[in-house]
Amino acid sequence: MEMNYTEKLKETFSGRNIKAYVHSFGCQLNVSDGEKIKGILKEIGFSFTDNPENAGIIILNTCAVRESAEERVFGIIGSMKKLKSENPDLIIGVSGCMTAQEKNLERIKKSYPQVDIVLGTSAINSLPRLIYEHIQNKRLAYDISEYADFSCSAEQVRESSFKASVPIMFGCNNFCTYCIVPYVRGRERSRNADDIINEVTELVNNGYKEIMLLGQNVNSYGKDLENGLTFPQLLRELNKIQGDFIIRFMSSHPKDATKELLDTILECDKVAKHLHLPVQSGNNNILKAMNRNYTVEKYLETVNYLRSHDSGFSLTTDIIVGFPNETDEEFQDTIKLIKQVEYDNIYSFIYSRRNGTKASTIDDKTPEESKSQRMRELLEVQREISDRHYKRFIGKTMRVLADGKSKKHEGFLTGKSNEFIIAEFKGDESLIGQFVNIRVTDSMNWAVTGEII
Ligand code: 5AD
Ligand code: SF4
Repeated sequence: MEMNYTEKLKETFSGRNIKAYVHSFGCQLNVSDGEKIKGILKEIGFSFTDNPENAGIIILNTCAVRESAEERVFGIIGSMKKLKSENPDLIIGVSGCMTAQEKNLERIKKSYPQVDIVLGTSAINSLPRLIYEHIQNKRLAYDISEYADFSCSAEQVRESSFKASVPIMFGCNNFCTYCIVPYVRGRERSRNADDIINEVTELVNNGYKEIMLLGQNVNSYGKDLENGLTFPQLLRELNKIQGDFIIRFMSSHPKDATKELLDTILECDKVAKHLHLPVQSGNNNILKAMNRNYTVEKYLETVNYLRSHDSGFSLTTDIIVGFPNETDEEFQDTIKLIKQVEYDNIYSFIYSRRNGTKASTIDDKTPEESKSQRMRELLEVQREISDRHYKRFIGKTMRVLADGKSKKHEGFLTGKSNEFIIAEFKGDESLIGQFVNIRVTDSMNWAVTGEII
């Protein structure tokens, strides 16, 4: 029988009051993995700290989607050499998407001897074994294999007591030509619907007010399950759960945004009237080169359908600027599209070449300076749009989940509205974690301000 490593480690560490520092980079799915890693560490008996200097075990849960994210992590690992020399018992682990690439493992082995554990994205459950092996053998313990079984028995240790993310599927089958995710996260695997429904029910019963369903492409949820629910069916089931809470989800691939899904969002009262619908580019040639499988016209049909049924429907998107050999004209189509859609917010990224992807083999002739220039133009255009767009809320009532104290304004709270708009308003700290209705009095280009009514 396999040894129970968690029990072994409990003994080893008992009475030593060792703290763990877990830091996640990148997307919300990775943050949710980080919460599971914390769950495993908690079972072993560790408590947590926000300061790596106080930690006896450090886990850096990494992101590989852009090169800048990777380099930042290597910088941080480098700086941790000092902590290790001060405390030789310190255990340093690296997990997340970066570990799924052989070259990163090699780089760690060669240049970063301070790293003790490398934990692949599908191997979270192996963490206790790896800690144990490292303690026994005093050398790097790693597991970057791909397991079919992705479930994790430990409960997520959630930062928030009122906002919960719930992964509903893992991996991606889409192979957009710029994207590393399908290579580091493997193929799509959906969680069983009953497990998800039970988990959300329990969260709501425990007072959670916002449930964020996560997946690289939630719209294809269930396609890999035999007799499983589809994503719209899952949303309808979750919408039936008793309680005052809001359902959000991320991300949706435009090619799979069916009419059934859009109707479900519009009809379910607990589902936020906001859709994050990454368009990436406003030019059909570029969309084709990206292997996105939709056209600008098709995308606009989706947008128009939502807006014609709910004029206030909020949309956000992701844009990649400077895909290999994108011309100025092609980029201007993106500007045209964002002016047409009037997004509430956009998340824009300069294309980052990722080894192993199809786009990385293209001989890119576009100078970096043009890409930065395009990025500046995009942000400028969007700033004006958001500014104008947020004014539409002035004088209106907005339901907001208060989520913390404003860092900028003393005595003010911040929160997110149903439409995913940031709001600031005067209020008592005791309201944090609750829904409040505010009347919007003013707007900035990234938020609105209001008064509680
Ligand atoms: N370069 C730049 N941005 C990327 N994204 C994904 N891969 C890359 C890349 N190689 C962006 C996409 C995606 C978001 C999560 O990250 O816009 O929607
Ligand atoms: Fe990457 Fe495309 Fe999958 Fe999103 S849908 S994770 S961009 S391959």
